Amino acid sequence: MIRLNVNIDHIATIRNARGGNEPDPVVAASLAELAGASGIVCHLREDRRHINDRDLRLLREVVQTKLDLEMAANEEIIQIALQTRPELVTIVPEKRQELTTEGGLDVVSQREKLISLCERMHERGIEVSLFVEPEEKQITAAKEVGADMVELHTGTYANAKTPERFKFELNRIINAAAFAGNLELKVAAGHGLNYYNTKHICYIYEIEELSIGHSIISRAALAGIERAVKEMIELINNSTLHRNIDI
Ligand code: PXP
Repeated sequence: MIRLNVNIDHIATIRNARGGNEPDPVVAASLAELAGASGIVCHLREDRRHINDRDLRLLREVVQTKLDLEMAANEEIIQIALQTRPELVTIVPEKRQELTTEGGLDVVSQREKLISLCERMHERGIEVSLFVEPEEKQITAAKEVGADMVELHTGTYANAKTPERFKFELNRIINAAAFAGNLELKVAAGHGLNYYNTKHICYIYEIEELSIGHSIISRAALAGIERAVKEMIELINNSTLHRNIDI
């Protein structure tokens, strides 16, 4: 079975919109695990726009399955990862202005940096996944720098607007997964996967793990709205019954 790792960043995005402490991504992580998630993913960005240092600290304590820390190959975050010791780090490119991770990591042009990163993580018992485009040259480079896994970027596939494009992008992922499998790299996939386009990715033999965030958190917001409204109505009704008590 393919393992589902749930990215809880956008619970933090909602929390940060008000600067308070709810909803708590740490609670979301536990609930996702109770629902069967095989792992929890969070991305500690340089600008801390969603997950922050406190979240990561607590996630490390609370997550019982597997913690996957998405991160840029940046020295400040590398130090935090080495101290936190997630089971896995997924290295992504990071630009300050982007809404979400855009494009895969250029492993080819950063070989030396990534060799050292993999060595340092391995010394601490942390596995390394590189988030790459489904391209042979990036996958080969990932193997050469010592990565354990590649996460194939499914964003272009997810954004395909025509059936022809969909098929073309799916084939790129199928071929890339087979190529990575032949190199004995573990294979994951993620970005833009939702309740419509995940099915075809699951048919790919080499893929072991999926990393999914936005669509699950979006569905949670909508699927949970009925219960949330009912519970607030219940609270209001119960409270109005007791209007005559001293406040
Ligand atoms: N994988 C990686 C490397 C990502 O950067 C992201 C986005 O944080 C995801 C998976 C999840 O993407 P989505 O939120 O679109 O499911």
